[in-house]
Amino acid sequence: MAVKVEVRAVSKDYLIPVLDRISFSVAEGEFLCILGPNGCGKTTLLRIIGCMEEPTAGEVLIEGKPLDFAHLPEHRIGFVFQEDRLLPWKTLRENVALVLKPLGGEGERGRKVATDYLRFVGLAGFEDYFPNRVSGGMRQRAAIARALAVEPEILLMDEPFGGLDAQNRRIMQGEVQRIWRETKKTILFVTHSIEEATLIGTKLVMMSARPAAVREIIENDGGADRHAIVERLNRMITEEVIRQQGLDYGFGGATPGERPMGAG
Ligand SMILES: Nc1ncnc2c1ncn2[C@@H]1O[C@H](COP(=O)(O)OP(=O)(O)O)[C@@H](O)[C@H]1O
Ligand SMILES: [Mg+2]
Repeated sequence: MAVKVEVRAVSKDYLIPVLDRISFSVAEGEFLCILGPNGCGKTTLLRIIGCMEEPTAGEVLIEGKPLDFAHLPEHRIGFVFQEDRLLPWKTLRENVALVLKPLGGEGERGRKVATDYLRFVGLAGFEDYFPNRVSGGMRQRAAIARALAVEPEILLMDEPFGGLDAQNRRIMQGEVQRIWRETKKTILFVTHSIEEATLIGTKLVMMSARPAAVREIIENDGGADRHAIVERLNRMITEEVIRQQGLDYGFGGATPGERPMGAG
């Protein structure tokens, strides 16, 4: 499979170094899951790949072409955030149609495309509902429909099911797998759940505590024993979470220069 996204030695410093020479590649049509302790820099990494943030060093290539952070990306990249970020005063259909405006998809056409994508994510019949009238899972479905409506080549998802209860989460994991299979999109999915990552990802990138480096990359194509992978990742994440908490609270493993300055 051709390489779709290549992250090449990407580093990011804010007041503190957050990302430390992150490198990995994602094949076309792959479902990549990015794992790591809270606060290690997963969102920052995804925002860089989504062209919303510039790296301090390194580059991101899409189909071999470096992302140009000075200009709007010519590649279409869909983003699903942890919060649904729907406008509460607009219906689900209007929320989805809204993103089509800059692409010339206004009026009747936008309405039709929005309706089609809402149906695709299982929301047929709910098009005219306002976000606060549907469940959290349904709002996340609408957020996915909105991301898909721009027909992205790459779908970035940042802990999209973090706010859902366990049952809804399981249902949405199945849904995102179905969507991936049916659309054949390249998906980069951030989660801190090992259970979730090993269930849905074809490739897993485990990040270390901050400044986050790639600790391990695991192929999860069904060939390897899933339980062995889960166990290995659980050991790793426990170590990294302890290191990360040590850094956050200013003890254990933090050299003074690395201490967060009020940042969590
Ligand atoms: N815009 C920013 N300015 C300064 N610090 C930031 C900014 N965005 C994130 N950070 C810091 O970078 C670190 C990583 O944050 P984030 O990428 O959100 O981690 P994660 O998504 O893995 O929980 C945190 O310490 C956070 O406070
Ligand atoms: Mg995050």
